Amino acid sequence: MKILGIESSCDDTAAAVVEDGIKILSSVVSSQVKIHHPFGGVVPELASRQHIKAIIPVVNQALLQAGTSLSEIDGIAATQGPGLIGSLLVGFSFAKAFAFALGLPMVGVNHLLGHIHTALLSDNPPDFPFVALLVSGGHTGIYHITSPLEFKLLGQTRDDAAGEAFDKVAKMLGLGYPGGKIISNLSRKGDPDKIKFPRPYLDKNKFDFSFSGIKTAVNRYISTLKETAQEKNAADIAAGFQEAVVEVLSYKLIRAASHTGCQSIAVVGGVAANARLREKVIKDAAAKGLLLHIPDFSLCGDNAAMIAAAGYHQLRFGAKSGLEDDVFSRVATF
Ligand code: KG4
Ligand code: ZN
Repeated sequence: MKILGIESSCDDTAAAVVEDGIKILSSVVSSQVKIHHPFGGVVPELASRQHIKAIIPVVNQALLQAGTSLSEIDGIAATQGPGLIGSLLVGFSFAKAFAFALGLPMVGVNHLLGHIHTALLSDNPPDFPFVALLVSGGHTGIYHITSPLEFKLLGQTRDDAAGEAFDKVAKMLGLGYPGGKIISNLSRKGDPDKIKFPRPYLDKNKFDFSFSGIKTAVNRYISTLKETAQEKNAADIAAGFQEAVVEVLSYKLIRAASHTGCQSIAVVGGVAANARLREKVIKDAAAKGLLLHIPDFSLCGDNAAMIAAAGYHQLRFGAKSGLEDDVFSRVATF
């Protein structure tokens, strides 16, 4: 069964063809970073307009790269939410219209479920049940996954998402946008132990997070320095901040594995591309004898292969969206 996936929840227009929920035949991502860069963050109105320009070429390219004609597509899956409403509407409305015109089934996919499916999109996917740490720009949470469509939220951030904290700290240091990758690269030149920022474990037996305190501590530290000292110390500040976030994320993930009795763990979402996080979780998982699954870099950030993979299972289960279905910006709990 070949599914065409479409993703447009934020600032990437993406399309992919995935076979049987596991085999990626193509995955095309058109990034809008250059458009939003001068503004230091995503401008929703510009994002929607760019999605409109990009959606047809991106879908065409995904079909071409997969060597698949439209007649071979069995269903369409598109991100329904959460995300920016204007951005979501472009991909979701396109998918509805496309499916209607072609007489194909179409299903709306939760973007977060999509990220979780990136753990399964590998040659060596985890066995169920497993625990997944989802760390992106909009979400940070730990989930207990018992089947491709069944999951339970164990805990999530009470304030900023981890990626959001990376982006905000990069902005404070005047490093530009998008901040996660910049902080990650700069940290290589810094000493992670020179400045000890707080580790917000909250209740060590629970799985909630809070990153706004670290962010405020970084801001307070920066404001005590003169401008020249800020520049000189930027790498140590970045490395110290990154270390605090990474320690808490890894600790809670490993703790969740022992709490649920799972042998397999996964890290997914944009921040899963962070080299220090990968290194730390690899070490901590090995120390506990846990099997770790981290997607390929190309699947950490937003992409449509993950939407096609999750959508495949939903369609097989009989789920279907209609023309009356709408996008949603937030989920109360997921
Ligand atoms: O999953 P994603 O592409 O979009 C959302 O669903 O939010 O995640 C984007 C987030 C951004 O906050 C970005 O700064 C962060 O992931 N990110 C990173 C790295 N690469 C991307 N954070 C830390 N280290 C990285 N290497
Ligand atoms: Zn995402």
